[in-house]
Amino acid sequence: MCGIVGYTGPKEAYPIVITGLKRLEYRGYDSTGVALLDNGLKVYKKKGRVSELEQTIFGKDLHSHCGIGHTRWATHGEPSDRNAHPHVSASGKLAMIHNGIIENYAQLKQELTNKGYTFTSETDTEVLLNFIEDIRENNQCDLEEAVRVALKRVTGAYVILLLDTDNPDTIIAARKGSPLVIGVGNGEHFLGSDASPMLEYTKDVVYVNDYELAIVKPDELILKNLGNEKITPFITKLDIELAAIEKGGYDHFMLKEIFEQPSTIHDCLRGRLDADAGTITMSGIQNNIEHFKEANRIIMVACGTSWHAALLAEYIIEELCRIPVEVEYASEFRYRNPVINKGDIIVAISQSGETADTLVAIERAKENGAIIFGIVNVVGSSIARISDGGAYTHAGPEIGVASTKAFTGQLAVLTMMALKIAKEKKTISEERYRKLLLELEAVPEKVDAILKNAGDVKKIAEKYKSAGDALFLGRGYNFPIALEGALKLKEISYIHAEGYPAAEMKHGPIALVDENLPVIFIATQDSYHEKIVSNIQEIKARKGKVIAVITEGDDIIPGMADDVFYVPPADEIIAPMLSTIPLQLLSYYVGIAKGVDVDKPRNLAKSVTVE
Ligand code: AGP
Repeated sequence: MCGIVGYTGPKEAYPIVITGLKRLEYRGYDSTGVALLDNGLKVYKKKGRVSELEQTIFGKDLHSHCGIGHTRWATHGEPSDRNAHPHVSASGKLAMIHNGIIENYAQLKQELTNKGYTFTSETDTEVLLNFIEDIRENNQCDLEEAVRVALKRVTGAYVILLLDTDNPDTIIAARKGSPLVIGVGNGEHFLGSDASPMLEYTKDVVYVNDYELAIVKPDELILKNLGNEKITPFITKLDIELAAIEKGGYDHFMLKEIFEQPSTIHDCLRGRLDADAGTITMSGIQNNIEHFKEANRIIMVACGTSWHAALLAEYIIEELCRIPVEVEYASEFRYRNPVINKGDIIVAISQSGETADTLVAIERAKENGAIIFGIVNVVGSSIARISDGGAYTHAGPEIGVASTKAFTGQLAVLTMMALKIAKEKKTISEERYRKLLLELEAVPEKVDAILKNAGDVKKIAEKYKSAGDALFLGRGYNFPIALEGALKLKEISYIHAEGYPAAEMKHGPIALVDENLPVIFIATQDSYHEKIVSNIQEIKARKGKVIAVITEGDDIIPGMADDVFYVPPADEIIAPMLSTIPLQLLSYYVGIAKGVDVDKPRNLAKSVTVE
């Protein structure tokens, strides 16, 4: 949940570090700080955003060729100057930044306190730093060995970057459970939670794995395991361009990413879906096709928006493939003692590929013999790398905290996956298969058409920006979209919103309905349409405000609803990829109307790498 950046080489370190932190702010922005090595340590840190730190330290001595930086999402200790990273050890010789949680920090802190250590912050990071220093001083060993010894005692998740005044060009890094990428330059090295801080400098990167430790000098990268055995760094070539992480003329990353969806969905389908030939080429599925065909059950594990994609996949896979599907919140799945049978397939869905709950959930499942299939957006991420097979959503870097283009990418991959398995299992007719391929192929163009009416959504958003609550209702394939629409509105506008199956209203929630309550129906033309019209009438009878996402040509609902959003006609299995678009726009424009920082909403971070 935090962003970390490091640089060592001939360039000035500070500009690289501070720019890298701005690109990683989506991971957390409660406080920020930098540590620079140059004839000793220079540490600047404070509560607040990177830009506030930058203004505060403007004009100070920022010269250095080796530095680290951190942007925090608070776990232990409230957001404050003293809890901001980097932390400095008792001797003043070490500085460290950390992303993760040290679960046994209290015990370590007690041991150090008993030895006379005092602490300036409430963080687990400062405890780990002084634990490392104490080992180095008492064992008379070098810092690298002290880090190894300390990390063997630590339980929890971490990425740490460590500076030592005794080695002014070296950064020591280690990871377990939180992401770390090292960029390999010409006589220089870059470190980051993802590749965005290094994109303009190098495309050659090393993804550090769990329990690995890196000693990083300008012209040398040594990788070792905690047993002090050298590991050959595996260099991957990045295919992301800097432009992909800039705003490209849009006011916010979220709006840019909503409008990118025609091309990102196209990119997701490209090279895989061939509607003319009637083929879907997905090597991750193909290589595991026997497991999918024989699967007694598919368990889907995810969080947040990715969980909504999993729920929609349940409806589609059960309908097309006739394989039982269970959808689990990763945070629940990992702590209860789930029954996992041999032959079960676990499908992990994650945009970041670093969500701690999802990552640990599949690690546990893997230990129990399950096959893991990962549907991930970030190439080379932890979930992608521990999966037995998978498929990338190819949505490109998603910087806005709200997941939009990654969500529709997930739906496109999951629909292709269901169609491919159904075809192999012969549980779908050739005619319906071909029809759905054509429908899927047409999605980018239909999304583009919806986006052309974004102005209509903006006007409607203005009407409802002062609502205190909202309900989102849908049936069948549109029920997961109702949940997703509610989550978007909550996280982007801070309006309390709930999603429900439309028929559930009469079992209690309808008591909420009055003339102030906006009720958003996802009511596209499908096999549930007649029923949902009745549900709309139930709301209208109680003076509720009705906003409906409907199919072009629907001549029933416009006469009933207060406001409507139109989407082009599509098969009910495909329609959710369309009906979610107006709801993304609705949350964006309501958030803007309310003055919310829609790219970085309060309390949130893009990648939840803590439990
Ligand atoms: C989505 O808009 C939210 N930001 C959040 O629910 C997110 O979907 C969730 O944290 C899961 O993230 P992941 O897809 O990267 O695993």
